[in-house]
Amino acid sequence: MATAGGRIKSVAVVGAGAAGAIAAAALKAENYFERIQVFERRETPGGTWIYDAEPTPLPIYPGYLPPDTDPPLRIPEALPTVTPPVQQERWTKTPVYNSLTTNVPAIAMSFSDSPFAYGPFVPHYIPRQYVENYFSTHRLDAFLQLSTTVEEILKLPPKYNKGYERWKLTLRKHDPVRRLDFWWEEEFDAVILANGHYSVPYVPYVKGLEEYISKYPERISHSKEYRTPTLYANKKVLIIGNSASGHDLSVDLVGTASAPVYQSRRSKARWDGDGPLSGIEWKPTIKEYLPSGRIVFEDDTYLDDIDAVLYCTGYKPSFPFWNVETNGRPLWDYEGNKLIKTYWHTFFQDFKTLGIIGMPRTLTFRSFEYQAIALARVLSGRNAVPLPPLEEQQRWERDRAERKSRERKKFHDIMWEDGETEGWLKGLFDIAGLGSIRGEGLVPPVLSKELIWAVEHLRKYPENPGNQGNKKGGEGMEGEWVVVERQKFALGGVLP
Ligand SMILES: Cc1cc2nc3c(=O)[nH]c(=O)nc-3n(C[C@H](O)[C@H](O)[C@H](O)COP(=O)(O)OP(=O)(O)OC[C@H]3O[C@@H](n4cnc5c(N)ncnc54)[C@H](O)[C@@H]3O)c2cc1C
Ligand SMILES: NC(=O)c1ccc[n+]([C@@H]2O[C@H](COP(=O)([O-])OP(=O)(O)OC[C@H]3O[C@@H](n4cnc5c(N)ncnc54)[C@H](OP(=O)(O)O)[C@@H]3O)[C@@H](O)[C@H]2O)c1
Repeated sequence: MATAGGRIKSVAVVGAGAAGAIAAAALKAENYFERIQVFERRETPGGTWIYDAEPTPLPIYPGYLPPDTDPPLRIPEALPTVTPPVQQERWTKTPVYNSLTTNVPAIAMSFSDSPFAYGPFVPHYIPRQYVENYFSTHRLDAFLQLSTTVEEILKLPPKYNKGYERWKLTLRKHDPVRRLDFWWEEEFDAVILANGHYSVPYVPYVKGLEEYISKYPERISHSKEYRTPTLYANKKVLIIGNSASGHDLSVDLVGTASAPVYQSRRSKARWDGDGPLSGIEWKPTIKEYLPSGRIVFEDDTYLDDIDAVLYCTGYKPSFPFWNVETNGRPLWDYEGNKLIKTYWHTFFQDFKTLGIIGMPRTLTFRSFEYQAIALARVLSGRNAVPLPPLEEQQRWERDRAERKSRERKKFHDIMWEDGETEGWLKGLFDIAGLGSIRGEGLVPPVLSKELIWAVEHLRKYPENPGNQGNKKGGEGMEGEWVVVERQKFALGGVLP
């Protein structure tokens, strides 16, 4: 990307969640770019944290991945144009449920120049207000193009721009008043992807599940559709999954659904004790769904007459706007669960004017800040340390993939306790360097003692219930949370 600096004047950002907000702030602070545009398909900024009260039913496609479940739209031939609104499922609605509170301490979840309203763990509307306010208080709202979906990103041939990359974006703006879609194209020198990766639900394939869905269409849903326990009053419910959603929904349903709430677990969670919490019964993974409605588990136990199965099996990243054919390759490897040809989870080895923010499972907002500043600085050509040569970037990717596969971890999970998070942030810190004497450029924040203490000691839930190291940290208006003794753990398994 170092070769690109000095001639990039226009940058498009895809998405106005936390990653899009800090990307816009970092680009603006460079005081160098002539045009910054943040495209957001929803009506307001806020991303994940925008709450839709209406639980729209979502289709379930067992075992299918985003290239099939979230395919690109057919782009009209002649642009600009106006069409009837798109009908295809675009998975734009929120994954937020009523009782959701954050699970990352506020100091580590917020950007360094602006604290959350309060902390440490807050209701879901606080991060939404925070992202929205961040756009306005930093006067980034001028860059926003709301209700506008980036439908296609095409790399233009080098001959088109004196040998340099340039990007053509196809955009679609929905007008809800006239019930029309407006389509047009715009070109940019660089693109930053800040489109999030928790919008397309994933449901694993299980023998008999498709037939079960056809026979009992109301019974199976994904946590993305869940809002409150009320729909499940006195119902016999089975939760699939034991990560944050599986835990939260199981607990949320106790007392409303019929007892016990069943929870199918593949792995032990960090917060699990030796047995389930009161009102919950653990089951292993499912072996098969039978036409009779019986659900058979791997240990050959079974459940009959289940009213609702809630799949809390997470999400898969989706890039339907990325034109694989013209751009020459896909962005995401669904088998390896990783971005293809990236460097430092932020830059692309073969697309020097493309960047991405928000993929690693680590500190979220705060780490987005390091990524955004490094990217803005590289694009403006004022970065302190050049990116390493291609061979070194390739070696970084290869070595990391091998190591993570050996450790049975995901490529983009960045651990805390072994110093990996600090090393990653330090790499971005070094690439960005300082701002200018005249104030151009944001400065990457320090990893403060307070932040480190919060990450290592504050938990939303007791660790391993019964562990005497848990001390009650707070309750009442700020909710209940605990202070734990510092222990060996991986943030990747704790944080989003
Ligand atoms: C249920 C749930 C709970 C979570 N809880 C926490 C938590 O407690 N703490 C924490 O730190 N993180 C949590 N996360 C992770 C959360 O996603 C991050 O905190 C953060 O909001 C991610 O920000 P982002 O900007 O990368 O993505 P998002 O917030 O997803 O924003 C991406 C934006 O891009 C837009 N977009 C996507 N495609 C297009 C397109 N083609 N054109 C235009 N716009 C587009 C989307 O509409 C969206 O607004 C949670 C996630 C989920 C699903
Ligand atoms: N603020 C909060 O408290 C909160 C609440 C909900 C979600 N979140 C965040 O939202 C994001 C998504 O969380 P999530 O819980 O929805 O998804 P997730 O973290 O991706 O977890 C998916 C769960 O599904 C299980 N699973 C996946 N494939 C399976 C299969 N084939 N068979 C059986 N089980 C399978 C996984 O088991 P394995 O562990 O064995 O893979 C895991 O328990 C995370 O970042 C999370 O932190 C935060």
